[in-house]
Amino acid sequence: MTHSTADRMPAPQPSALATRLDFAQALARRCGELALREAAGLQISSKGVHDVLTQADLAVERLIRQEVAQAFPGDRVIGEEMGGQEAVEADGDCWLVDPIDGTANYATDIPRWCISIAWLQAGQPAVGVLFDPVLNRLYSAAAGSGAWQDGRRLTARTTDRLAGATVELGWSTRRTAQQYLGRAAALLTAGAAFTRRGSGALGLADVAAGRCDGYAELHINGWDCAAGVLLVSEAGGRVNPFFTNQGIHSGGLLVASTAGLYDALLALMTDQ
Ligand code: IPD
Repeated sequence: MTHSTADRMPAPQPSALATRLDFAQALARRCGELALREAAGLQISSKGVHDVLTQADLAVERLIRQEVAQAFPGDRVIGEEMGGQEAVEADGDCWLVDPIDGTANYATDIPRWCISIAWLQAGQPAVGVLFDPVLNRLYSAAAGSGAWQDGRRLTARTTDRLAGATVELGWSTRRTAQQYLGRAAALLTAGAAFTRRGSGALGLADVAAGRCDGYAELHINGWDCAAGVLLVSEAGGRVNPFFTNQGIHSGGLLVASTAGLYDALLALMTDQ
């Protein structure tokens, strides 16, 4: 019996990105279920002024680290609560995770928080998954394959003027009140409305899904935004080169918006 070339070809292997995307989606759901269970009888401690930590943040990050170690031995993980930056080059490959983004909301029973899991290749987000367990929404993106929510492809809006736009202006104590108020005043003066809803990751998902026009924050950490920035760029929006600018190690300015609004919003956020 003769064999054709096709008979002898090995079965196609899923790409490294597809494998990690599938893994991250399943893991994010498990993490969300764990966080929901942990919400009963929650213990909350303080990391600083307006910066809380719950035992659920730690439990979820532990689960992520265990599962990654089992599925991809040798993969590095950077997480909000347990660190790991020191072992990763800024242009390296790693998982960058926020076990619960929107912790202050989670701790006060405000239903706006999520699990954020990203895989960075050569220092840039290549896979991004967010799971919002309260609304049971799963967001996912892989570089070059679009942004998705529960099987529906996401597209950013076409807004191209600040007048009439809605922008979420993220806030933390890492920048002064004066700096924040300056940006808020500039947005209002330009005719934009601003919101602040306490989860940078979900704010970015809103931009990708066309629910708002932009997300900007004077300083945000990489674990809060790694998955979300990929969602925005894969949905046709624009994001500043956050990860090229050392965002993985020290965080920094984030500007993410519809493609047409980007230049104006970046100028507004960097105007001194
Ligand atoms: C915070 C949230 C918030 C953003 C802060 C983050 P956490 O993350 O994303 O919306 O404005 O910069 O630190 O502490 O809830 O994981």
